[in-house]
Amino acid sequence: MMNNTETENTIELVAEKKTKKFFVETYGCQMNVSDSEIVTALLQKDGYESAASSEDADIVLINTCAIRENAEERVRTRIRDFKTTKKHNPEMIIGVLGCMAERLKTKLLEEEHLVDMVVGPDAYRSLPALIAKIEGGEKAVNVLLSLEETYSNINPVRLAGNGITAFITIMRGCDNMCSFCVVPFTRGRERSRDPESIVNEAKLLFEQGYREVTLLGQNVDSYKWFGGGPKRDFEKVNTESKDLKVVNFANLLEMVALVNPLLRVRFSTSNPQDMTDEVLHTIAKYHNICKYVHLPMQSGSSRVLEMMNRGYNREKYLERIQAIRAIIPDCGISTDVIAGFCSETDEEHKETVSLMEMVKFDYAYMFPYSERPATPAAKKYKDDVPEDVKLKRMQEILAMQRNHSMIGNKADIGKTFEVLVEGHSKRSKEQVFGRNTQNKAIIFASEKHKPGDYVHVRVTNCTSGTLIGELMDAPTPNGL
Ligand code: SAH
Ligand code: F3S
Repeated sequence: MMNNTETENTIELVAEKKTKKFFVETYGCQMNVSDSEIVTALLQKDGYESAASSEDADIVLINTCAIRENAEERVRTRIRDFKTTKKHNPEMIIGVLGCMAERLKTKLLEEEHLVDMVVGPDAYRSLPALIAKIEGGEKAVNVLLSLEETYSNINPVRLAGNGITAFITIMRGCDNMCSFCVVPFTRGRERSRDPESIVNEAKLLFEQGYREVTLLGQNVDSYKWFGGGPKRDFEKVNTESKDLKVVNFANLLEMVALVNPLLRVRFSTSNPQDMTDEVLHTIAKYHNICKYVHLPMQSGSSRVLEMMNRGYNREKYLERIQAIRAIIPDCGISTDVIAGFCSETDEEHKETVSLMEMVKFDYAYMFPYSERPATPAAKKYKDDVPEDVKLKRMQEILAMQRNHSMIGNKADIGKTFEVLVEGHSKRSKEQVFGRNTQNKAIIFASEKHKPGDYVHVRVTNCTSGTLIGELMDAPTPNGL
């Protein structure tokens, strides 16, 4: 009897611990979304339950971005929002994950008193142990970076998605050391994930009804897997050896494309210094590899690109754009641009304007330069372009890009595209929403089509951000 009661008590204790609820809030890039899905899988595996919102959670995890100062400011404001909640519920745990956690380490505990836990991007497997430490009354920190961690055996729990499109992380970290960028410091050294685990994840997603995967890495073109391990362990092996099976990014793209012709494959981010023609030919060869490349230019000035340590100049960037256009006709192209990098002159800004004029991107993400502590640029150069000049330059390229997007969209009027339906339009139930292979959003009327269907849509109108179309009866090239 005695023994039984003891067992029951233990079970009760375990049950109490195991039903704690957590909520992950995600800021920043697609990689962070993917990491939050890994964190969710790890915690669920350990018996924690997902909460529907931060209000219902015992543990709130804020997955953060450190790329620009304002990204960090947003996170700090959010943390401080929890002041009253935490006063009423002192047991509530607040954890900061991701790039800001890695950058600030224990300083974050000193600066933000509401924070109980600081966890870097390579330390998520230790979350249950860190939570236990907090339950024991301590604060907890793990910001160790790893040379091997790729979470390859973790099957991410897809969060609040549409059930049709999903991210797959194929590599972590970055070795590029672009001088403005904090990522090599917050995400550590570059390492590729086992291709077999990537293909298996894609297969599983397809079986679950997903119809599009986006392969994620900071620089996907330098993906490399040597037989039994990631690039780092095998740098010195004889890569000429016949026994050695090397998988590069082009090979990986092909492997994922072969999972099923109905599974679209996208990827991000390409890098002008590493993007090969082999990758472009692979994209051209498979109908289900989307004809879309995001190729960050950052600047149109070769002197600024050199200071940024980007590894290419204006001519090489243009040459890569021409290669995309020659090998993949009708390819969608987007970019990232930084306005007002250290010592950028008006003339150099005009070179950015002229390069954007020449390429006419379908879409561009534009940012005013934000100095990040400890980066090579912060150490070597002065952040000497006044804020108002940075903003003026950014406004100029923003307006130009809006115009380019409009011109590009208008040129699509009258064309028919294969569209993967992703959901219903926000405005009306009869309108559905999807994307064409070039990654352009298209809305059109349809009562019978559901997310995951491939349809043919003819473009009849547009805004600078969206194509508007009508459903065609012809079967799609995918044979549906
Ligand atoms: N790995 C990707 C993207 C990294 S961060 C790449 O190869 O470019 C995403 C974008 O943020 C970058 O392309 C850059 O345009 C911008 N960015 C990075 N650091 C920045 C900084 N310090 N200030 C302003 N923009 C920055
Ligand atoms: Fe950053 Fe350059 Fe890598 S922008 S993420 S250091 S490719």
